Amino acid sequence: MALPESFLQELIAKNDIESVVSGYVSLKRRGRNLVGLCPFHGEKTASFNLYPETSSFYCFGCQAGGDVITFIKRIENLDYMDAVRFLADRSGMKLPEYTKENDASSRLRMRILEANREAARLYHQALYSPEGKVALDYFHRRGYTDATIKHFGLGFAPPGWDFLLNGLTAKGFHREELIAAFLAAKGRNGGAYDVFRNRVIIPIIDIRGNVVGFGGRVLDDTKPKYINTENTLAYVKSRNLFALNFAKNAGRELNLCEGYMDVIAMHQAGFTNTVAALGTAFPDEQIQLIARYADRINLIFDADGAGQKATRKAIDSLRKTGLDVRVVTIPDGKDPDEYIKKNGAEAFKLLLERSANAIEYRLLEIGRKNDIHSPNGKVEYMKEATALLSRLNNRVEQDVYAGRLSELLGVSKDAILQEIQSHQRRQNRAAERQMLTTILRQETKELRMVNPQANTFPRAAAAEESLLGTLILHPDYIAQAQKELPSEMFLTDFNRELYGRLLKRHSHGLMVELAFLAADYDELGMAYISRMVKDAKDRIAEDITVYTAIIREEHALKGMADPAGASDESIQKMLETLRARKQ
Ligand code: CTP
Ligand code: MN
Repeated sequence: MALPESFLQELIAKNDIESVVSGYVSLKRRGRNLVGLCPFHGEKTASFNLYPETSSFYCFGCQAGGDVITFIKRIENLDYMDAVRFLADRSGMKLPEYTKENDASSRLRMRILEANREAARLYHQALYSPEGKVALDYFHRRGYTDATIKHFGLGFAPPGWDFLLNGLTAKGFHREELIAAFLAAKGRNGGAYDVFRNRVIIPIIDIRGNVVGFGGRVLDDTKPKYINTENTLAYVKSRNLFALNFAKNAGRELNLCEGYMDVIAMHQAGFTNTVAALGTAFPDEQIQLIARYADRINLIFDADGAGQKATRKAIDSLRKTGLDVRVVTIPDGKDPDEYIKKNGAEAFKLLLERSANAIEYRLLEIGRKNDIHSPNGKVEYMKEATALLSRLNNRVEQDVYAGRLSELLGVSKDAILQEIQSHQRRQNRAAERQMLTTILRQETKELRMVNPQANTFPRAAAAEESLLGTLILHPDYIAQAQKELPSEMFLTDFNRELYGRLLKRHSHGLMVELAFLAADYDELGMAYISRMVKDAKDRIAEDITVYTAIIREEHALKGMADPAGASDESIQKMLETLRARKQ
């Protein structure tokens, strides 16, 4: 009798080779593998190797090798079925009974996998047919190369109701099989229709190379944005991660993103150790899967994405498995796909390297200063560490480090989070007070002295300050400004310095909001800057172009007659004309 695949999958998931073997062999980690003295022959130097990534073992001394079931067969001296029974007992599973249904369902499972493979082929062909040009253009527009498209087997489901039904029934698949595969759905009068229509197609491939399902994205803004294969006999969402088939070979560090497109963009940019959670709420099974393939995981999110909530919950479970969990925040609410497209792979690499390490480093420093084994040292450490964490803009990140502090100090995580929040409230009040003083000082002569060159180049200074104010409020325009205007073009020193600072902070993935500049400027400087910000709320990307044009112009005119030039007012006029033209 053949055991149903679903049973074996569960058996293997519940008896991971590392835990099973370590019941017999004392194992030591060596790089990505574990080594120990071989239990199958007498030896003094360890030649028995365990490979968690492939769930296998091999002994260089006696050439014994295999999977977890083989290991049990040999070491317990059992035949295959008894070894399976042994592992089932070990993990509290019941052996399935042989029934006609079981046999039929494992046959259907195979048919679903075959249908999926054929479907992926047809979708991919359709992408490169004349009909698929819209979809191919779509991928190209998003910056995905043909090599990437091929690597991921991307495709196109043409519009209409029966592209796949026709293609697959012609290859001998039955309608019921396609419905069981979630490729087709039942129509009202007994008929069937394609589930994926007029969508680009992303195949989901499991770690054994089976096409287990698909994601389909619309080409425009229609809802729903994605349709995904539901659980089938061949696919359990919670036991898969998108692109793990590639990522599992890329080392013991994984990046976890929110979406398919992020993963694809990351792989194309060289980060081939990237996966996504397939829209699940991150169940324990996925966490175990990650722990099996990684020692370290980088959670990558846009600043306040919806996906964060589920993940925040999962972080503790992730850490409990012994994983080193880090959080990478992407500035300006972008996802990795957009960020890489805009700023390039190198910039993203910096983000990966810097984001978590900076905090870690500073926590270490605080740890060096205070002896956490003395009660006073512990209190001091807690005070400084929570103050540091309160300055993080990312809740997920705060949560990760609060968890670590809690373990380190033996203080409840809730208490630590509360402490962080009270720091934050204090900071907000201070910021408010500062804003108030700023407003009161607006027109003073002192303020004018912050940037004395503004008196010489009023038009340039006005444009510079409008530009800077806009960038502080809309950091997503910074990349555009950087492209259009090098900082040397600025005419006034104070503004040029601020511009350079914004670009630098932005490229390091740091926030540029007012509060984050406060460490670098005195009260007057901050007052001057907040004045720039106060009218910048409704600015649009086109405004950037106007300001940079004026600054360039003024730069060219520098040293020529009539430095008085135009004022704020003329800039306002230009903007109005531009907006009027757009409407
Ligand atoms: N998702 C889904 N169904 C939706 C929306 C989202 O299954 N209606 C899942 C998809 O797996 C998607 C992920 O959630 O990849 C993240 O969603 P989102 O950020 O909205 O999409 P992106 O992957 O960024 O896609 P795009 O860049 O094409 O907008
Ligand atoms: Mn996206």
